[in-house]
Amino acid sequence: MKIAKALSLLGIAAAGISLVACKADGDNQGLEYAPQMYHSVAYEPLTQIKDETKGEWLSNREDGKGEFFNSNINNPHGMNMREPVAGTVPRTKDGSLPYRYKAFEIEEASVNVKNPIELNDEVLKEGERLFQLYCTPCHGKGGQGDGTVGMIIGGVANLTGGAYVGLSEGHIYHVITKGKGRMGAHGSQITPENRWKIVHYVKQKLQGGQNADNAVAVAEKATQETQVETPAN
Ligand code: HEC
Repeated sequence: MKIAKALSLLGIAAAGISLVACKADGDNQGLEYAPQMYHSVAYEPLTQIKDETKGEWLSNREDGKGEFFNSNINNPHGMNMREPVAGTVPRTKDGSLPYRYKAFEIEEASVNVKNPIELNDEVLKEGERLFQLYCTPCHGKGGQGDGTVGMIIGGVANLTGGAYVGLSEGHIYHVITKGKGRMGAHGSQITPENRWKIVHYVKQKLQGGQNADNAVAVAEKATQETQVETPAN
């Protein structure tokens, strides 16, 4: 009886000690069960470490290799990351293809580039907000070329008047994306989707929905007009 009691006490003490031993805090990480679950092998995307002994000193990998070995023999170019399939074309989040027209190809863009965004009140509202954000400093709230910055740099197009009213949507999109003359490119600041929303707003609200069939001729005329207006400085 006594022996049984002593044994059970011993058992409780042993259990207590083992529980204390498991405690992790501060610099003591405690005992790890299945350490591979804590120390996963980190794959470097652009490089591979092919030396199987690298990091052997701290390795607890099941395959017996060094902790830092992370080669993946199936991938080419000494990288762990796979390359995209040849001919893969990246698309933006909204599914559109990259814009391929160069800055000087404004005439082609005017004719061929079409607005993929459906026109509705919500889009117009968002287009207005974006126009106020990106375009008003130069073009003014109403698009008349009388923004605070526009007054100083001069030669800013009045989007509500003259030949500008007839610009095609593709033309306006191209100018926002690539810039034109004294207007800088905004392609890197504004997403394609938002650029098209601005185009809808300019076309529908500032230009009363007018669209030109002769976008190219109109564009040329507009360029000439702007050049006359632009002061030499
Ligand atoms: C830093 C000032 C500035 C900002 C900001 C600016 N523009 Fe312009 N914009 C100009 C100037 C200057 C011109 C005249 C360009 C030229 O020399 O032909 C112009 C011309 C234009 C034209 C006429 C292009 C043509 O074919 O003649 C359009 C359309 C236009 N801007 C739209 C926009 C829109 C939309 C935004 C906002 C996303 C915007 N601009 C932001 C200065 C600006």
